[in-house]
Amino acid sequence: MKSVNIGLLGLGTVGGGTAAVLQDNAAEISRRLGRDIRISAVCDAKAERAAQLCPDAAFVQDPFELVVREDVDVVVELFGGTGITKDVILKAISSGKHIVTANKKLLAEYGNEVFALAAENNVMVQFEAAVAGGIPIIKALREGLAANRIRSIAGIINGTSNFILTEMREKGSAFADVLKEAQALGYAEADPTFDIEGHDAGHKITIMSALAFGMPVDFSACYLEGISKLDSRDIKYAEELGYRIKLLGITRKTDKGIELRVHPTLIPECRLLANVNGVMNAVRVNADMVGETLYYGAGAGALPTASAVVADIIDIARLLDAPSGYRVPYLAFQPDQVQPQTLLPMDEITSSYYLRVCAADKPGTLGQIANLLAKENVSIEALIQKGVIDQSTAEIVILTHSTVEKNIKNAIAAIEALDCVDTPITMIRMESLHD
Ligand code: NDP
Ligand code: HSE
Repeated sequence: MKSVNIGLLGLGTVGGGTAAVLQDNAAEISRRLGRDIRISAVCDAKAERAAQLCPDAAFVQDPFELVVREDVDVVVELFGGTGITKDVILKAISSGKHIVTANKKLLAEYGNEVFALAAENNVMVQFEAAVAGGIPIIKALREGLAANRIRSIAGIINGTSNFILTEMREKGSAFADVLKEAQALGYAEADPTFDIEGHDAGHKITIMSALAFGMPVDFSACYLEGISKLDSRDIKYAEELGYRIKLLGITRKTDKGIELRVHPTLIPECRLLANVNGVMNAVRVNADMVGETLYYGAGAGALPTASAVVADIIDIARLLDAPSGYRVPYLAFQPDQVQPQTLLPMDEITSSYYLRVCAADKPGTLGQIANLLAKENVSIEALIQKGVIDQSTAEIVILTHSTVEKNIKNAIAAIEALDCVDTPITMIRMESLHD
């Protein structure tokens, strides 16, 4: 059978890994697919990198030229970013080329446009590597869980942040040093702000939310809070209280609407997600028929991510000559069933909370704080005085029961207005991961 011809855009971490997987596992892949996969053309900023990694492929300087070539069946986009990359992808689709991409930013921000054009041109778009690196979570959401109504997804989906949090907790390493290490290992985005400020996790949970609930991708609706402002004291106190802090992407269907958020989160240490360390990712899905399922694996890095890219190429290759009715819909649901849904503003979400308050160490302080929480209907689960910072200031940690976010925010504002309290109060959301 004729080989499937790939046009490869980008030979960085993931592109280089993809070339290596296609070469090293060529025989095994052909055994599965029944035909060969060949990189026929490649484009990268550095011609010498292309000559070294893909010596048999034509080097094409201009990506717009590559995507219209006769000898390219599938364009594998591993440039990243949305500027010129978006135009190149749209041109490829308009030229009838099938697409494999690891680009979560592109899909979370422009996915609706990409999928609409792909439908018009009858081309497939696969994006397994865009979420949680090597973990086949897109396939699980689109196919494995197709019999279910999905209730919620919670995931550690940024390897860089998880690597940083793990090194800070286990070795007491400094934030900046660990970030540099993550960059050297190829985990971080070209701009690592995307990792540490929650954007990358936001892109991924936005894509999963669309797949889970059958709605258009809408990254602008995702609440983002990263790990850059986390204080190592909170990591330590959380641990003393039996919790770990993880950057979680969360989406949940509630009676009032859909929650879509990324933020540092306290998780009880007995939960599996709390024990996912280093660059590993894990995604927990709760669905009505199957209950809880958990997907774990390497969330970043050359070969794990390339594993997902090549699996997508294989999926496309299997369907190249099949009628389009055999394809899994881009966003898991039939296109006319992908409908906008109400997204819940953060003030309306329900969570429990960790608060760290620095306040005057004198009689009555705790009483005032407890009263202001009660006034907003916030119930205290635990309250611990961690110690005295200087002679007159005490550090108090409070864990609350579940409440609506606007209540805790009102309570915090009222507590911060007290003369005896230093500002700002630290607030971190908590998840029991029972639903
Ligand atoms: P890299 O920066 O390592 O690789 C991108 C490559 O593409 C570089 O060689 C770059 O050249 C080249 N390139 C980018 N734009 C152009 C252009 N317009 N013309 C020519 N060459 C270009 O990125 P990654 O491999 O890490 O990431 C690629 C994609 O995969 C991104 O979308 C990323 O989010 C995603 N991803 C990455 C993972 C990882 O572990 N790294 C995991 C999962 C997804 P140069 O550097 O010289 O500019
Ligand atoms: N920068 C991303 C991460 C790469 O650290 O998870 C994988 O998407």
